[in-house]
Amino acid sequence: MSASTYGEGFAQVYDRAGFSAFSERMIPYLDQNLERLNLQPQSILDLACGTGTAAILLAQRGFKVYGVDRSEEMLEIARKKSAKERVQVEFVLSDIRNFVLPEKVDLAISLYDSLNYILEREELVSVFGRVKRYLKENGLFMFDMNTLYKIKYGWDNSFRVFWITHDILVIEGNAYDQESNTTTKNFAFFVKKKDELFERVLEEHTERGYTIDEIERGVEDSGLQFIDCYECFTFKQPQSNTGRIFYICRNTV
Ligand SMILES: C[S@@+](CC[C@H](N)C(=O)[O-])C[C@H]1O[C@@H](n2cnc3c(N)ncnc32)[C@H](O)[C@@H]1O
Repeated sequence: MSASTYGEGFAQVYDRAGFSAFSERMIPYLDQNLERLNLQPQSILDLACGTGTAAILLAQRGFKVYGVDRSEEMLEIARKKSAKERVQVEFVLSDIRNFVLPEKVDLAISLYDSLNYILEREELVSVFGRVKRYLKENGLFMFDMNTLYKIKYGWDNSFRVFWITHDILVIEGNAYDQESNTTTKNFAFFVKKKDELFERVLEEHTERGYTIDEIERGVEDSGLQFIDCYECFTFKQPQSNTGRIFYICRNTV
C-alpha cells in the first residue's frame, strides 16, 4: 500500500486528530493583524484550505469566502462541514499555482505551512502571482510558513511513535535533504475502529524551507509588496531559531 498526500484516510481523521486546531487559533491573530493594518475585508480567499475550518469560521462571520485546495478528499470533508453548519463557502478544487476565481477578493490567507509544500522557488512566485491577480487594490495576503531552521533542525532525521489522541497512534519518520532544503515526513496513522481493530493510513509529506530573504524576493518578484513578517502568533521580529513565521504582503497594483 503506497502513501498518499492528504488522501481519503487522512482527510477523514484530520480534524479528529487535532490538526484543525491550528487554523482556529489563527483566526484571532488574523483579526489583530487586520486591525493593525486597518483592513475590513468583505471577501476572503483561503488558499490550501484543507478541511475548510478557517474558511467556514470566516464565512460564519458574514464574509464571502473562497477555499482552494488540490485534495478532493480534504474538500469533500470541507463541503460536508459547511453544509452541516449551513454556511456558504465556494470551494474550488485546484492547485494553488494555477487556480481561477470568478472575482477579486480583499484578503487572501494561507494557513498551517501550506506554502511549504511548494518545493520550487519559481513555483512559489507563481502562487504569489496568482494571488496578486485575484487581490483587489490594497488587498492583503497573509500566510504562515515553517522556517528553514525548523525544516532542517526542528524535524531533522528523527523518528517517533506517539498517541496523537487516545484512539490514533502515529509512527512518524523524518528525512532531511540538504540539497533541496526539504524534509520528507512519512506517517503511519493507526486509527482505532470497532472491536480494538486499527485501520492503517499512510501519508507522505514533503515541505521545503525558505529563508525570509527568499520569501521577500519571491513576493516582490510577483509584483506584490512585502509588508512585514513576525514570529507567528506574536508581533516580534523572527529570530534565527524561530520555527514559524507569519508573512504579510499587499497588492499595491
Ligand atoms: C497542513 S494542511 C493545511 C490545511 C488548512 N489550511 C488548515 O489550516 O488546516 C495543507 C493543505 O495544503 C494543501 N496543498 C498542498 N499543496 C497544494 C497545492 N499545490 N495546491 C493546492 N493545495 C495544496 C493540501 O491538500 C492540504 O489540504
